[in-house]
Amino acid sequence: MIKNLVFLFIIAVFPFVSYASEDPTYVGIAECKMCHLPHFESWNTTKMSKAFDLLKPGVRAEAKKKVGLNPDEDFTNNEFCLKCHVTGYGQPGGFTTFEETPEMVGVQCEMCHGPGSIYSRMMLKKKGTYKREDYMKKGGLRLPKPDNNACTEKCHHEGSPFVNPDMKFDFENRKALGTHRHDIRYIDMPFDL
Ligand code: HEC
Ligand code: HEC
Ligand code: HEC
Repeated sequence: MIKNLVFLFIIAVFPFVSYASEDPTYVGIAECKMCHLPHFESWNTTKMSKAFDLLKPGVRAEAKKKVGLNPDEDFTNNEFCLKCHVTGYGQPGGFTTFEETPEMVGVQCEMCHGPGSIYSRMMLKKKGTYKREDYMKKGGLRLPKPDNNACTEKCHHEGSPFVNPDMKFDFENRKALGTHRHDIRYIDMPFDL
């Protein structure tokens, strides 16, 4: 009897506890694309969207040789490389292996804006009544400053075999090269929120 009561107590209380203390997890770009189609389309033309392919054998063979990597090696399961070439590696909801999580390849939205599960759910539920303060704070969305640091702190640093101490990352220059585009302030909702 007591056992049963304890069990009932746990199933009654646990959903609230887990919701209140929940940390956001990675959901993948399909979720962002649903509401941010222009951002998705622009991102899809960047090198970051194809970053996973660089780890395949034979790809960019010359560049790999130059930095002492074996160009015939398959790096798609290599922990060291994966942390910068996929999304949310080793974290809840993030990339595990290509076989298990093919949708998490490349440097997606969540690598810069943070894991989006709570934020995304809020936006879907609120039916247009969201407040910016709410979705930024409770949703845990990050909005990095558009400058060098946003890029060099996480990925474009010397932890990469292709970044050496003489390289200076120039944000404006890289942006102009079409590396990344974020000048679309409007949002074209695919459905009536
Ligand atoms: C249900 C629709 C919806 C989904 C899903 C969604 N967003 Fe949004 N997002 C919005 C709306 C609406 C805004 C606010 C736009 C405005 O008011 O200008 C917004 C704003 C943002 C902003 C700008 C925040 C600010 O206020 O400066 C970022 C960054 C963002 N979304 C990233 C993402 C990412 C990353 C994902 C996927 C994990 C995602 N969004 C999924 C609807 C959505
Ligand atoms: C610290 C993050 C990080 C790690 C770790 C990392 N990379 Fe990268 N990789 C990058 C970044 C950032 C670039 C883009 C460099 C640039 O253009 O500034 C890049 C570029 C590349 C390129 C393209 C180079 C070219 O000049 O065409 C290849 C190939 C590549 N990485 C393979 C790998 C492999 C293989 C590993 C593991 C042995 C690895 N990376 C580990 C961040 C990383
Ligand atoms: C490499 C990092 C990076 C990636 C990847 C990235 N963003 Fe951003 N995003 C930023 C930065 C930095 C800003 C701030 C830009 C500014 O203030 O001018 C930003 C701003 C935004 C904004 C608000 C400004 C605007 O132009 O509307 C939205 C919405 C947004 N991102 C959505 C997305 C979505 C959706 C994706 C994936 C398709 C994505 N981002 C991928 C770094 C990134």
